[in-house]
Amino acid sequence: MLETLSALPPDAILGLIAEYKADSRENKIDLGVGVYMTPEGNTPVLDVVKQAERYLVDTQESKAYIGTAGLAGFNAAMQTLTFADTADDSRLVTIQCPGGSGCLRVAAGLLTRARPNAAIWHGEPTWANHVPLVGGAGLELKGHPYYDTEKHVIRIDDVLNAMRNIPKGDIVLLHACCHNPSGMDPSEEEWRAIGDVIIERELLPFIDMAYQGFANDPDTDAFIVRHLADKVPEMIVSNSCSKNFGLYRDRVGSLSVLCKDAGTRDIVASQMSNIVRTLYSMPPDHGAAIVARVLGDADLNAKWLVELEEMRTRLRDMRVLLNDALASRAPDNDFSHLVRATGMFCFLGITAQQVDALKKDFGIYIVGSSRINVAGITAANVEYLAESIAAVL
Ligand code: LMR
Repeated sequence: MLETLSALPPDAILGLIAEYKADSRENKIDLGVGVYMTPEGNTPVLDVVKQAERYLVDTQESKAYIGTAGLAGFNAAMQTLTFADTADDSRLVTIQCPGGSGCLRVAAGLLTRARPNAAIWHGEPTWANHVPLVGGAGLELKGHPYYDTEKHVIRIDDVLNAMRNIPKGDIVLLHACCHNPSGMDPSEEEWRAIGDVIIERELLPFIDMAYQGFANDPDTDAFIVRHLADKVPEMIVSNSCSKNFGLYRDRVGSLSVLCKDAGTRDIVASQMSNIVRTLYSMPPDHGAAIVARVLGDADLNAKWLVELEEMRTRLRDMRVLLNDALASRAPDNDFSHLVRATGMFCFLGITAQQVDALKKDFGIYIVGSSRINVAGITAANVEYLAESIAAVL
């Protein structure tokens, strides 16, 4: 029976991991999948995570099932990290899911049950996996303008006009911060304007916050979530701990759903529990137990904020380094958007053929759209990187 299936191409982002590993060139550079890397090219376990893990080994008494919603302490801590005190707790339900992707899929399942004919609108371009992952639950995804790939700015007027024409009651998928792939986030003023349209059109904001703390401190990065929390009747926020806690493979994230009243909240919680039970039964515990410990302990929390700031600062520094190196190697081209973008990603703004040439001729791995992960840049490789980019221009 299974021979009736046909092979699929590798995932546009994850496929690069294997290709990069198989490349034997010593000066190869990985700017592909979105993981943080140190100047030595490692993706380390954070110190606070190690400390929390030691604590768990010493104190955890059971590995018995945890339930569909996950760890209550994690859910409460993540709710605070996401909303601070801006949302009405009695209308809010937060559950633990396997990574940001798990959150997005559970949310999509919930929306499919609530409004099977609604569309989810997203800015173009968006994270390559958004459409298959969220659309896989059954809802239709529709694009609207977001990023100007020529001028490297947000097309804010077009965003607002497009959103004004979205049918009332549809859903808008937003990136809270560190837009993936462009790295270009709305300013606070632009977010307020987007928020006004959401309120006016009675749209449901579905906010993906996969990089909280990577553009600015976690409170600043949650601006649009907190701005809308007391203004809209319903909102969904997916929060990943992959990047800001470095817990990629432990698969931990939180999904928060704000409902119009406490009664609806209870109904929604039961639906989410049922979706989880019928998808993966319950989330893995380890990563969430680590996050609960870090956020729940004042000392570890303070240390985590320092480690987060270190990662954020390195990403910013590498943007400046590459922009400076390109300014001398390719003076006819303007790469200043590299330093205007935030978080892990931005577009180089080169063609798919040039991306291919960087891989083939120079061992430099970039997603086909020319999205780069700036964490792969180091003081040691930036000259080679800039020279290679200049060579393919
Ligand atoms: C990325 O965009 O590179 C990350 O979010 C990892 C992934 O799963 O695609």
